[in-house]
Amino acid sequence: TKTVYDEPHRGQFHFSPAENWMNDPNGLVYYDGEWHLFYQYHPDGEVWGPMHWGHAVSTDLVHWRELPIALAPDDKGHIFSGSAVVDANNTSGFFAPGTGGLVAAFTYHDPVTGRESQAIAYSSDRGRTWTKYEGNPVIPNNGAKDFRDPKVFWYEPQQKWVMIVAGGQVEFYSSKNLREWTHESTLDGVFTECPDLFPIRVGDRTRWVLSHGGTHYTVGDFDGHRFTPSQPTRQVDFGRDFYAAQSWDGAPDGRRYWLGWMSNWAYAEQVPTAPPWRGQMTEARTVNLIPDPARPGEFSLAQQPVPQLTEQLGGEPATITDTPIPPKGNLLAGQRGTSYEIRAVVDVGNAQEVGFDVRTGSGARTRISYSTARQELSLDRRESGDVDFSPEFPAVTAAPLPLPADRLLDLRILVDRSSVEVFAEDGTVVFTDQVFPRPHSDGMAVFATGGRAVVKSLTVTPLRSAWPR
Ligand code: FRU
Repeated sequence: TKTVYDEPHRGQFHFSPAENWMNDPNGLVYYDGEWHLFYQYHPDGEVWGPMHWGHAVSTDLVHWRELPIALAPDDKGHIFSGSAVVDANNTSGFFAPGTGGLVAAFTYHDPVTGRESQAIAYSSDRGRTWTKYEGNPVIPNNGAKDFRDPKVFWYEPQQKWVMIVAGGQVEFYSSKNLREWTHESTLDGVFTECPDLFPIRVGDRTRWVLSHGGTHYTVGDFDGHRFTPSQPTRQVDFGRDFYAAQSWDGAPDGRRYWLGWMSNWAYAEQVPTAPPWRGQMTEARTVNLIPDPARPGEFSLAQQPVPQLTEQLGGEPATITDTPIPPKGNLLAGQRGTSYEIRAVVDVGNAQEVGFDVRTGSGARTRISYSTARQELSLDRRESGDVDFSPEFPAVTAAPLPLPADRLLDLRILVDRSSVEVFAEDGTVVFTDQVFPRPHSDGMAVFATGGRAVVKSLTVTPLRSAWPR
């Protein structure tokens, strides 16, 4: 392909396929030195169509290399979302004695009847080629209209595999060999797509995070059979473009990493990036749980871009310290860029509104703003550039954010050619939004209105392209 990854809207540190349509991340697994990213892919068009699993790999979660398609539709149906695991001990029996390999679990979606069932495939060559199991489906349709997106993981305490499947509720299954599955339990009342369930150690206890749709999460306990919530469900992301998040299985350092599809079904097929491509992922993020100071006994999900991002791609930072934000004028007037990171600690003082404008110029701006009166952080993309391709696109969204006692607001903002991601208060308040400004909308500003605020520290770090040039 002649794609040079330099189109005006091509995210420079966000994965997108060279050409054509992509949605959910699938089959996220670390194996033999490589991070695999499979994804819902339509190789014959720039809108959703018969689903395949596309494939990319990375050795650092920052640079991605697209590989040939991994799974294609067959007479059992289209290949919908799912996951992958390392079957190191050959529990499946798919691999040569004494060896292991990768096993993927996916949904067959019958395009005629709409019926969905769960199936598996295996690879002995580091995910390059896949063989679908001849006994598929491993879990036939259960009568439900929606029954898809299997996420599999190894449950060490009971030496078994667990699969969770989405639908009008979340279904839990277990297996010793990835081929024969036993129904364990049903979690009612959670209509979802793309569920994930993973443990995070906090202090001396393991808590389980159930994410649903990638948009909500519930913290609770999991005993190998059923999930029991321990606190109310919360929102993962307060922007408009974070969906179908999935975490990596088998991270070598035991930490949790994930990413999401950075789009929204409301307008995904209209975003102005095609031709040649449509659909991009967020950058890879670490996921943690931290105690919520406002609600004792509860935990907040905390996300941060992986440190490799700035380590690998970061250029010379521009720094400002202990500087009042002038009521007129702009401390960032000299800064330009379309791919960069801002890190800021701002003393909001007695200002009413404090924030940043990014991708400014030629009448465009995307505003990230904290209101001390409303105690909320908002992201406004109504004037972010090309917003007319769908009435659903222009939007301002907000998240509650109680002003910390020290009045210090901590913000981390990632800006790329067609996205803005905001991580506030240690990554517990996150916004993920696509924007489509023109390339020359490359200015930025920091502002405070209605009072005096002070930049305690601020760095703007340009980010180089992660694409091969
Ligand atoms: C979520 C989703 C999944 C499904 C896939 C189909 O975005 O609807 O539930 O498996 O997309 O492409």
